[in-house]
Amino acid sequence: MFRFLTAGESHGPALTAVIEGIPAGLRVEADSINAHLKRRQGGYGRGARQKIESDTVEFLSGIRFGETLGSPVTMVVRNRDWANWTTRMSIEPLADDVDSPKEITVPRPGHADFAGMLKYGHHDLRNILERASARNTATIVAVGSVARLLLAEFGITVASHVVNIGGITVEADQIDLRRLSELSDASPVRVVDKAAEAKIIEAIDAAKYRGDTLGGVFEVVVLGAPVGLGSHVHWDKRIDGLLAQALMSIQAIKGVEVGMGFHSADIPGSEVHDPFFYDGDDQRFIRGSNNAGGTEGGMTNGEPIVVRAVMKPIATLMKQLPSVNLATKEGVPAFAERSDVCAVPAAGIVGEAMVAIVVAQAFTEKFGGDSIGEMRANFDNYIQTVKQRTQSESDGR
Ligand SMILES: Cc1cc2nc3c(=O)[nH]c(=O)nc-3n(C[C@H](O)[C@H](O)[C@H](O)COP(=O)(O)O)c2cc1C
Repeated sequence: MFRFLTAGESHGPALTAVIEGIPAGLRVEADSINAHLKRRQGGYGRGARQKIESDTVEFLSGIRFGETLGSPVTMVVRNRDWANWTTRMSIEPLADDVDSPKEITVPRPGHADFAGMLKYGHHDLRNILERASARNTATIVAVGSVARLLLAEFGITVASHVVNIGGITVEADQIDLRRLSELSDASPVRVVDKAAEAKIIEAIDAAKYRGDTLGGVFEVVVLGAPVGLGSHVHWDKRIDGLLAQALMSIQAIKGVEVGMGFHSADIPGSEVHDPFFYDGDDQRFIRGSNNAGGTEGGMTNGEPIVVRAVMKPIATLMKQLPSVNLATKEGVPAFAERSDVCAVPAAGIVGEAMVAIVVAQAFTEKFGGDSIGEMRANFDNYIQTVKQRTQSESDGR
């Protein structure tokens, strides 16, 4: 089973991830991980932190001569900003002659600050915000990049684009999904519609001028996933549920849709469910539409997986929201540290990573194997069987 843990504080020395369950023999090179780390750092509307950091991954275990060994893979992403925080984030107790940093006691609405301080018994909310920060999404993207390499071995790709920022929606119905990454990565706000792109950039500039922030919606698309990942038999095996949980685990994500999602509440069943047809020339089942977003009954159905997630506007506003000092009970503006105005384009990259992780987990569960060769044999055998069944059933057997 592909599983992982991440660790690290936003201004600590480094972020770390340990992944277990990657079969031996997978080619993994830092460059391909770094390319996705760079994508996460981009996007119009990001704050000053992205100019300080230039994330790259170091491998500490599990890889030899560019290939996985089957043992746990450890990855480290160093925080360049750590150099400016060695006292404020010191791991050792501070020396007697060093002043303690001023405690932050004014919680920001929309953050983990208030609940975290009370839950963990802290008085300085830095002890919460350092780990709650979306800086950790760098390690999620690193893990997701390894998952993508595994999926790519079997012809499965993951891409995303932004479909809404601040209520400005993007026209993307006619888009060739195979070109999605190329098209969205070429846009500073990761949208495939030039008219919407201009309006969105204007809206982000206007929000920044007002000291405000914007949220939005991104869509992740998986191509090439075989039929039968996930299962209908238990709540925690349903791939739609697993995708939703994984996307909801990203900071600031407030809702997830699979396929037609919430719009299916508005129209009758005859317009929602995707009819079956049989293509005699190609000898395969085809669907008239993909409103289900590639999953039925908690399993992939062989169509593209399409999921969308909504991100709330960034909660740290330069036009500070009202708050209360927990030490003095005095009403004061919320604490504001340099911050993004809009991070939906970046969140889409994190969404890709989370989706890749879930699909890779379901894939390794279904096809098993301690080496890529063993996994490939299992995969090829299954695909062959599915092919035979879908062909022979057309003959009426
Ligand atoms: C890619 C990304 C970047 C983010 N950047 C910021 C930021 O610069 N400032 C901020 O206040 N929150 C930022 N957030 C959101 C916070 O991390 C914070 O965890 C979130 O507002 C808490 O929301 P929750 O209640 O959904 O966990 C970002 C989130 C993501 C996914």
